Amino acid sequence: MERVTIPSIGTDVAWRDAARDFLAAGVPPQDILWGGPAAAPDLFATQAAPRAGAAVTVPRSFIALAQSVVWHSDPERFARLYAFLWRLRDAPHLMTDRADRDLARLRQMEKGVHRCQHKMKAFVRFREIGASDAPRRSFAAWFEPTHHTVEPTADFFVRRFGDMDWRIVTPDVTATYENRRLTFSDGQTKPDLPEDAGEQLWITYFQNIFNPARLKISAMQSEMPKKYWKNLPEAASIAEMIAGAPSRARAMAEAAPTLPPPRIAQVQAQLARCTSAWDGPKEALPAAISGCQRCPLHKNATQAVLGEGPRDAELMIVGEQPGDLEDLNGKPFIGPAGQLFDQIAAQAGLDRTSAYVTNAVKHFKFEARGKTRVHQRPSTSEIEHCRWWLDAERAQQKPKRLLAMGATAAYALTGNGKDLLARRGKIERTLDGEPVFITLHPSYLLRLPDLNKRRDATALFAEDLRRIVT
Ligand code: URA
Repeated sequence: MERVTIPSIGTDVAWRDAARDFLAAGVPPQDILWGGPAAAPDLFATQAAPRAGAAVTVPRSFIALAQSVVWHSDPERFARLYAFLWRLRDAPHLMTDRADRDLARLRQMEKGVHRCQHKMKAFVRFREIGASDAPRRSFAAWFEPTHHTVEPTADFFVRRFGDMDWRIVTPDVTATYENRRLTFSDGQTKPDLPEDAGEQLWITYFQNIFNPARLKISAMQSEMPKKYWKNLPEAASIAEMIAGAPSRARAMAEAAPTLPPPRIAQVQAQLARCTSAWDGPKEALPAAISGCQRCPLHKNATQAVLGEGPRDAELMIVGEQPGDLEDLNGKPFIGPAGQLFDQIAAQAGLDRTSAYVTNAVKHFKFEARGKTRVHQRPSTSEIEHCRWWLDAERAQQKPKRLLAMGATAAYALTGNGKDLLARRGKIERTLDGEPVFITLHPSYLLRLPDLNKRRDATALFAEDLRRIVT
């Protein structure tokens, strides 16, 4: 009998490596004792050591299935997966056999893990623990997941809360994100976490969105199962809200119809005019952009990056979208492209601080590859959704001169997506008829691998900047 201990951190890789070795060496499922770190020792078992054997190919769909099932809390999960994998060697079609009971059980476990990950994303509640003058804000949360989902879900929190330090403590594993580094360590007992100021706000919000006339207790409990309540600050008000719901609903029904407050009348009038441009008050524009959800880009970005520069700037410079550093710091053009721009602009006599600098798209679009966030070009539809804000900024700034840097900015302003190299150095018209000077984007210069080409393109860019200043 072989015994293998799968650790509670790095479980997926450990199971995969062990299963691969056993399979290659032809060890049948009944000869293996799979155990987690806490499993009781078996007197007749020997500790398995890696052995050589023929490499085995496994269907991708099984790999995906195993990657979820290994995090299930069922102690039999490793054995079940291996037993199915063993059968799969001679019958790869099993992965699509809906009548197979082993597969059905694994699918059920996979579903359980996905559901638990979903609940974790929804119900982890952070509390601020850092000092108010610390360079990065610091948060901690206590959570009790049904399955071992801390490790496979941690990336979601890294994407969401990449600009702060945080810790998710569970009885099983602790995930720590500090100075942009994610690590896992053993679980802990429930820490003593202080209430923070945001919590009372959140509870008030929760109470206010509760509609007593639409209370469906079973639907509510299926979405927010009771076992999570003890760690959800807002859950303390649920019992009271449920108890008071019938009388509040009755009172609502009996109350005489009320006239909408004047503010609602104003909003309705605006809607009726079906405005195609943002026409809120000037000072509300930054908050409106920050809260933008007009396209899905807000979901993964840290924040919307607003334009910056003097209100009376004569020159407005439009780039593409914030990059990684801009996204984290909330300022446009501070990363490598911004630094190159500053350098060439200074040589060309363009004082950046006297211009209003913004982007065609306000949220960073990227693809996460390991720990890096790789820039992705915004789609036409994302640029068009964001044009709403660019138009609002233009309407507020009323710049005398407009500079589009790169294809995205040129498209956002002119609606023309044709080759930029043929257009640079020329003046075109915005969709509403204003002149706009077209030039290259500084990151284009950074990407040119050929040094001669880079030097020539930089000279063209500098010449364009000189022309826009004079
Ligand atoms: N590139 C842009 O277009 N804008 C920024 O803010 C940074 C890089």
